[in-house]
Amino acid sequence: MAQNAFAPVPRALADALGAARYVAALTGAGISAESGLATFREAQTGLWARFDPRELATPSAFAKNPKLVWEWYAWRREQAAAAEPNAGHRALAELERRLPRFLLITQNVDGLHQRAGSRNLVELHGNIGRVKCSREGTIVERWDAPRDSVPRCASCGALLRPDVVWFEETLPADALAQAEAAARECDMLLVIGTSAEVYPAAALPASARASGATVVEINPHATPLSARVDYALRGPSGAVLPALLASLEAGGSGAK
Ligand code: OAD
Repeated sequence: MAQNAFAPVPRALADALGAARYVAALTGAGISAESGLATFREAQTGLWARFDPRELATPSAFAKNPKLVWEWYAWRREQAAAAEPNAGHRALAELERRLPRFLLITQNVDGLHQRAGSRNLVELHGNIGRVKCSREGTIVERWDAPRDSVPRCASCGALLRPDVVWFEETLPADALAQAEAAARECDMLLVIGTSAEVYPAAALPASARASGATVVEINPHATPLSARVDYALRGPSGAVLPALLASLEAGGSGAK
């Protein structure tokens, strides 16, 4: 069922997209790769190939070496702020405007979907642009950045931390509940740029399929999910998503 990104979108898929009352999309780091941001698990270039997540992305890492963790996230925050949304992000924002009902579920923390214009969005793993108090969880808009230490909460004095989900932490309950409901209720789920290895997000495609949705994977490479989708569109999301959008605009007529 694999389909080359530069070949037309299959007619049956374009028709199903055009007929769908509720479309959801689940995105991962791959959709931001064409904006120049590193993914996590790709050999050589992935962040987890170059950095140890146990030293950087767990509560115990923060307790042990808060400065190292703070600085690593500050570095990634700067990279995200300097990056620009790409054609894939923009096509999803446009799909939201065109389709009767659309929910974007992202594992990404880079904020590029919002900057591309997506509004109906659930962030499963937080947002690197936000900072919160490590004790009270309150979001902090402004903080002093001391040169040699981690900033502290002005109200309680605890260390500040990025508002992202670390390993060993639970996802925001509301966001997960919305994502799970969308998987159960949607007619089509687009799974874009994710290795589909990190749960609970990785369980959403199977849930959608079990509820009768058409599941479409968009990824240049095969993943553990590939054998269990209705369509696997093999190509970069910056090319495939605009093609999918074009197929909708063409009323499904550009395909065989
Ligand atoms: P991964 O790094 O695990 O997977 C990225 C996927 O993107 C791979 O399957 C690539 O083949 C694919 N990819 C690469 N370039 C692409 C492109 N141009 N277009 C489309 N796909 C492309 O990243 P995630 O699945 O997002 O969690 O990782 C899930 C979670 O693991 C992250 O949210 C993060 C990480 O640990 C936390 O930090 C909590």
